[in-house]
Amino acid sequence: MSLLPICIYPDSVLRRKAERIENIDEQIQCLIDDMIETMHEAPGIGLAANQVGRPVRLVVLDVERREPGRGLLVLINPELVGAAGTTKSEEGCLSIPGYFAGVVRHQEVVVRALDREGKEIEIAADGLLAICLQHEMDHLDGKLFIDRISRISRDIFKRKWKKKLKEEEGVEAQSCLD
Ligand code: NI
Repeated sequence: MSLLPICIYPDSVLRRKAERIENIDEQIQCLIDDMIETMHEAPGIGLAANQVGRPVRLVVLDVERREPGRGLLVLINPELVGAAGTTKSEEGCLSIPGYFAGVVRHQEVVVRALDREGKEIEIAADGLLAICLQHEMDHLDGKLFIDRISRISRDIFKRKWKKKLKEEEGVEAQSCLD
């Protein structure tokens, strides 16, 4: 197992629509192990394959420390099959470190996916896990939580982010930030 570098906004891979996984082969198993290790090390409660530069429909989640009993989840080709209610909560993302904002999501969701053995599973979730599932599944469609905040908040975020990138790397980030 090894730690993978996490792609940081505005890396274009974060905007790619991830491909379905047809074969859960050795390479995918290896990616799953690496993603779990990377998520735990960060530390984070969820990680989508896009975030480590592999645009395939795979996410790992672990909200165990904040919601005991939920455990580690590996979801391949996840699909939203049910949703109810709305809720707003503070979100962050390993690809946008240090930025947090309130996002409106479904309060409860039902997600169908394959586990790492290729078995179909269905997860009914509320609370933090429901939020995390929606956040990670958004990644697979090239969507980020900053797309779900108000235009004003997003404009402020982009200005701050541009400044932060410039300070950190001395790069001209303007062209990447549309
Ligand atoms: Ni994220």
